[in-house]
Amino acid sequence: MINDKRYRPEPSRHEAWKMFDQIARRYDFLNRLLSFGIDVSWRRKMAHFLPPHRNQHVLDLATGTADQILFLFEKSDKVKSGVGTDLAEKMLKIGREKIDRRGLSELVSLKVGDATDIPAGDNEFDMVTISFGIRNVINVARALREIYRVLKPGGRVLILEFALPQNRLIRGAHLFYLRHVLPRIGGFVSGDTRAYRYLNETIETFPYGDAFCNLLKAAGFTAVDAHPVTFGVVMIYQGDKGLKIEN
Ligand SMILES: C[S@@+](CC[C@H](N)C(=O)[O-])C[C@H]1O[C@@H](n2cnc3c(N)ncnc32)[C@H](O)[C@@H]1O
Repeated sequence: MINDKRYRPEPSRHEAWKMFDQIARRYDFLNRLLSFGIDVSWRRKMAHFLPPHRNQHVLDLATGTADQILFLFEKSDKVKSGVGTDLAEKMLKIGREKIDRRGLSELVSLKVGDATDIPAGDNEFDMVTISFGIRNVINVARALREIYRVLKPGGRVLILEFALPQNRLIRGAHLFYLRHVLPRIGGFVSGDTRAYRYLNETIETFPYGDAFCNLLKAAGFTAVDAHPVTFGVVMIYQGDKGLKIEN
């Protein structure tokens, strides 16, 4: 796949989470506005790729305001309980309020945690999800190895992340939107133009498609696949932690 890196150098991801604390109050509203509400269908779509068994214990990394984990609970009967972790305390605070309002606080808990040093033991979760989070992590390979470590054998990782469409016309229109429209609207509503410039710069420089699948394979995942959604504006990646075959 083509990664169009000509436009900007890769932005610094150092302490990117602090930026999310600053825009936490407007974060959900801006997600709906800037994606024209389509992000809701992307999050729902992730539920299609869950493993088939019920009663799964899920970890949602870089959970932010907990949208992804709440969508999994609401759209699937396969999830029994969940933990969300993030470094941005103000994002988590909003997430906890949403969980309380839905009466799910017995089943879903949120805590501070780094995706590259996951606060969990080995083989704890049936599934790990991360939506629009992996792009913000400084050491992606380390985060993927950590995900592999905390998954049970037979468990699955699902990663929802922005990509660039393959079709040249659609990619051109999308890049125009990312570079010229999104930072202006996002900056105006959130009061933080930097956060929305960071968004388009990280999208344009982050590996996607085959390149990202290779990172998953290098971390040990098998049955790796990438599902393009909405012309490839986003991808849902999946990978499994294979069952160990005892001799
Ligand atoms: C674009 S938001 C995504 C939030 C949420 N997953 C969603 O789908 O709306 C990215 C999140 O990644 C978090 N983040 C950035 N670096 C992180 C890290 N190393 N460990 C955990 N979370 C991190 C930020 O604090 C922020 O909440």
